[in-house]
Amino acid sequence: MEKPSSSSLRQGSFAIPFEEQGQRDRSEFMSLTECRIIDLPKISDPRGNLTFIEGGRHVPFEIKRVYYLYDVPGGAERGGHAHKSLHQLIIALSGSFDVILDDGTQKKRFHLNRSYYGMYVCPMIWRELDNFSSASVCMVLASNLYDEADYYRDYGAFVQAQNL
Ligand code: TYD
Repeated sequence: MEKPSSSSLRQGSFAIPFEEQGQRDRSEFMSLTECRIIDLPKISDPRGNLTFIEGGRHVPFEIKRVYYLYDVPGGAERGGHAHKSLHQLIIALSGSFDVILDDGTQKKRFHLNRSYYGMYVCPMIWRELDNFSSASVCMVLASNLYDEADYYRDYGAFVQAQNL
């Protein structure tokens, strides 16, 4: 069996080096401009493609939790909250869906439909997920364990906190 060629290996990257994260102002983590699509490595292979994610290299936070949404019925919406301090990377492992991000000032819709793209969402961003295709799987890497106290589930309270 033929080995994947080196040209078929795409190295993932993110714009802000991991080690620089701590030197930045907290408010910079709360804006939509911080959220972006991260291009993950993809090893193309006639036997099937492979993507990997390495902690400290491809994701701008330490990964402490992984969860996934599946069996999402057509027309369903997920999310509808913001996190106070959680960083997340959202990946359409299978199928597609939309992620709507809102920092209280600006709102943007992203369509995720490739398993080698990750949507990085910084803290203090209201997010909604909709337009799920059938059999889609949404995997989320998160910077911390589940903690209900980290959520804003009320949009008004979120906007108020953003303006503090
Ligand atoms: P929620 O974060 O609101 O889901 P989504 O944003 O995908 O719509 O979580 C839904 C429920 O699942 C809620 O009762 C909390 C629970 N939950 C956990 O127990 N652990 C987890 O890691 C997550 C993400 C949710």
